[in-house]
Amino acid sequence: MSRLFLLCIFTSIFCLLETQSQYSVGDGLLTTRTTVLLGHSCPDNMKCFLLFGLWLGCLATSGWAALSVNSTPPYIKPCRKSDPELNNCIKESFDHLRPYLIKGIPEIKLQSIEPLKIPKMAMDNGHGAVRVRAQFSNITVYGATNYTILDVKGNVTTYKIELSLGIPRIETTGSYDVNGNVLLFPVRSRGDFWAMFTNITGSGKIYGKEVIKNGVRFMKTEKLLVDFKLTKSKFKVRDHLNGHNVIGEAMNQFLNQNANEIIEEMKPAATAAIGKHFKNFLNGAFLQVPIPVWLKD
Ligand SMILES: *[C@@H]1O[C@H](CO)[C@@H](O)[C@H](O)[C@H]1NC(C)=O
Ligand SMILES: *[C@@H]1O[C@H](CO)[C@@H](O)[C@H](O)[C@H]1NC(C)=O
Ligand SMILES: *[C@@H]1O[C@H](CO)[C@@H](O)[C@H](O)[C@H]1NC(C)=O
Ligand SMILES: *[C@@H]1O[C@H](CO)[C@@H](O)[C@H](O)[C@H]1NC(C)=O
Repeated sequence: MSRLFLLCIFTSIFCLLETQSQYSVGDGLLTTRTTVLLGHSCPDNMKCFLLFGLWLGCLATSGWAALSVNSTPPYIKPCRKSDPELNNCIKESFDHLRPYLIKGIPEIKLQSIEPLKIPKMAMDNGHGAVRVRAQFSNITVYGATNYTILDVKGNVTTYKIELSLGIPRIETTGSYDVNGNVLLFPVRSRGDFWAMFTNITGSGKIYGKEVIKNGVRFMKTEKLLVDFKLTKSKFKVRDHLNGHNVIGEAMNQFLNQNANEIIEEMKPAATAAIGKHFKNFLNGAFLQVPIPVWLKD
């Protein structure tokens, strides 16, 4: 992949030098390229044409560095469309993927998700007792790869995949910025947080669609709906905005005493934000891995 990229740069430079050496540089880069494209500036230099074609081909390929349709990378355990136990196969594929998710898969630009890093996430809740706009940043999540796939229902005709999973424990740290009203009291706070959630059951509905790029079929996630349940949660915040962390202390007490209610209140905002993040995550990965690589006819 990177070798291909180097070849691209090499040919582009060579092609530019070639065109510029023959035609006045004063035309500017854009005009030179356009005239080459139009054809009448390379009357008797076929080499230039060939290089330009190679250059275009290169750009197309390096910008679309997906896996080959015939490859079976080690992290993929392919399933067959005709498998009567297809759901079970998908479940096993997720189990098979775990060590690779822990290490990261550079080939498809997938970073390790142990810990999982989320640079930014915003949650808005405009009604109820907790009306806040919360921005979280530098979120680090530990324990996500300890998932157990509980159930899978996949339809490979419609690319609708429902799955539920259990995670025994998740610990997360990051920075937050909260602005709004909690029980009619104005709250404005910014600082660091730590949170722990135990016995989490999550479910996701992937609404996929087949897309074709350069003649190759990929699954694109158009919508991802997520939901979760958890039995216990613990929070700790350290406020940086108000002096001596006074708000922080009060908020810690409030958060921990009302954890379940707050989570219920914030759930629609949280699931929307999580769904949005993982939709992008899925597309980042699946738009690199053609359908025939993971789903055989
Ligand atoms: C982001 O979080 C990591 C892990 O908790 C921490 O080491 C790092 O200092 C944080 N970075 C910023 C800019 O807050
Ligand atoms: C995930 O599981 C491993 C192995 O059982 C354990 O060592 C680790 O503490 C777990 N991570 C979290 C965050 O619970
Ligand atoms: C997949 O969805 C299609 C269209 O809704 C339906 O006809 C088909 O029976 C479904 N297949 C499975 C395995 O559920
Ligand atoms: C975990 O959650 C499930 C379903 O939400 C519940 O049935 C189970 O009792 C919980 N286990 C623990 C140890 O809290």
